[in-house]
Amino acid sequence: MPTADRRPAGRHFLQIPGPTNVPDRVLRAIDRPTIDHRGPEFAELGRTVLAGMKRVFGTESHVVIYPASGTGAWEAALVNTLSPGDRVLMAETGQFAALWRKLAERLSLSVEFLPGDWRHGVDASEVESRLRADTAHAIKAVCIVHNETSTGVTTRIPPVRAAIDRAGHPALLMVDTISSLASIDYRHDEWGVDVSVGGSQKGLMLPPGLSFNAFSAKALAASERAKLPRSYWDWREMLAPNASGFFPYTPATNLLCGLAEAQAMLFEEGLANVFARHDRHAEATRRAVRAWGLEILCADPAEASSTLTAIVMPDGHNADAFRRIVLERYDMSLGQGLGRVAGKVFRIGHLGWFNDLMLCGTLAGVEMGLALAGVPHRKGGVDSAMAFLVDAARQALPHAA
Ligand SMILES: Cc1ncc(COP(=O)(O)O)c(C=O)c1O
Repeated sequence: MPTADRRPAGRHFLQIPGPTNVPDRVLRAIDRPTIDHRGPEFAELGRTVLAGMKRVFGTESHVVIYPASGTGAWEAALVNTLSPGDRVLMAETGQFAALWRKLAERLSLSVEFLPGDWRHGVDASEVESRLRADTAHAIKAVCIVHNETSTGVTTRIPPVRAAIDRAGHPALLMVDTISSLASIDYRHDEWGVDVSVGGSQKGLMLPPGLSFNAFSAKALAASERAKLPRSYWDWREMLAPNASGFFPYTPATNLLCGLAEAQAMLFEEGLANVFARHDRHAEATRRAVRAWGLEILCADPAEASSTLTAIVMPDGHNADAFRRIVLERYDMSLGQGLGRVAGKVFRIGHLGWFNDLMLCGTLAGVEMGLALAGVPHRKGGVDSAMAFLVDAARQALPHAA
């Protein structure tokens, strides 16, 4: 395995669905002397990044930032709002939904798990019927993964919200946005989400190490009644110092410098343009996969993720053996199959700091890797993607009709 300073020539292609490529601008922002986290310069940084995260989540309500990976923010969402033995409704969209469930059970929550086939998003009508059946309102929260990173399937949140409302059920709605935030359209307030969970290492273009909770007034009120033990994750400990830009404990100062820069980049491009760029790269990728004659794991094109595509390996071929060849020969990391689909799928991450030519290079690496690994496929995937990207660029020209 090449080390950082003994890599092959040229940039490594980090095309896993997070961590993603960190922009040079963000690297430079992180690479500076650490400042006093109780001084005035930090207060300004703290206020900037907290306000920026509200904009990214689409909320006027509260956001807190943890020096933790996304798993920490999952735990924070649950311990701040729930009590031992509370029932929560979760849906088996894939590996990350299964891991969130495991975490909830370890916290002594009782999980009702809607079974799934790892090829679809959450079935809102199923959520509605479970909530209608719960006339005693024992279910305290509905917890779903917006973009299931193990399968490349995105659940539409508004139908789930509408299902909860139709059932007239008071459960909180919690959404994991870890691999969709700042890449796929997301609106915490408008969609009536109570707790949104995010992470730094995907659409926010940072290294791993920060995670987020955005929460509604209803979730904050629930936190006053919640009895699960919490200290480090306690929102109330955070909110008071956050009001003046500070944190209750030593924050991840340099990552926050990077976050300010990443937010500036996202806002300069415009969030709507960022989302459109991800949609374009996802569509180009799917065209390549179809041209290769391979199968996309996501069964419903309307739920196909804009941040990653999971591809099913033909029978008799191992996805990890293929990924190893691509890494060794082309210095590109592709995402491995997780859990139930280990060895059976590989995932192309097309999110974060990424452009048309990086996508073409990525798809070329996959197409050449398929040939080298002897995986049956048709040629022309990269050509299909390029044709689509050229059309999209033509339409974006100022003189386009
Ligand atoms: C959708 C989703 N949820 C949760 C996690 C867990 O986050 P972390 O690995 O940062 O703890 C991930 C990580 O990839 C993820 O993609």
